[in-house]
Amino acid sequence: MIISELFLLISFVLIALLITGSIVYSTVKLGISPMPSSNKAHLAMIQLINETGSGTIVDLGSGWGNFVIRIAKKYPQRQIVGYELSFLPWLTSSCLKKILRLQNLTLHRTNFYHADLSMACVLTCYLFPKAMEKINHKLQVEKSDVHFLISNNFALPSWQPYKTIQLSDFYKSPIYLYKIGQTKTEIK
Ligand SMILES: C[S@@+](CC[C@H](N)C(=O)[O-])C[C@H]1O[C@@H](n2cnc3c(N)ncnc32)[C@H](O)[C@@H]1O
Repeated sequence: MIISELFLLISFVLIALLITGSIVYSTVKLGISPMPSSNKAHLAMIQLINETGSGTIVDLGSGWGNFVIRIAKKYPQRQIVGYELSFLPWLTSSCLKKILRLQNLTLHRTNFYHADLSMACVLTCYLFPKAMEKINHKLQVEKSDVHFLISNNFALPSWQPYKTIQLSDFYKSPIYLYKIGQTKTEIK
């Protein structure tokens, strides 16, 4: 009895360590944790998505799936794609997609810097400044159909946002909408 309880306890601790280790490892490697955007940020991003027509929406770093699942349910007629490298968040979101039978949602365990985004009409993200620089570079060197980029909190370097929503949170976080096919505006 005591041995089986000890075995259970050790298994539990090992699983907890594996989960924590996996998340810490990908957070250090990718430079950001899988923490989802706030509910207020999701609502503001959805408000901006409403101005983007009916093309494919790609979430760069879809985390646990909170945002992609929400928009896949809200826009059943649109294709939603998520890219996520961190294993457990990707696994969790893939299971939820299956359970909820979301046919219009595709989830890839792929580095989005190396992904072919030519089918994307709208890019959404909640990342960090260095990642925004790399996305900017990718948008400039690769041919794609991207018309809009919606970013929670982090600006796209050297682009002028078409619209900005300021959240009523503690940090007054901005949500940016960029129109990508238009001429870039240098920001001094
Ligand atoms: C802060 S979360 C955002 C989650 C979701 N997009 C949201 O707004 O609620 C950022 C996610 O991007 C993922 N990520 C960062 N760089 C990545 C890359 N190059 N390729 C794929 N996923 C990446 C991280 O693992 C993390 O889960």
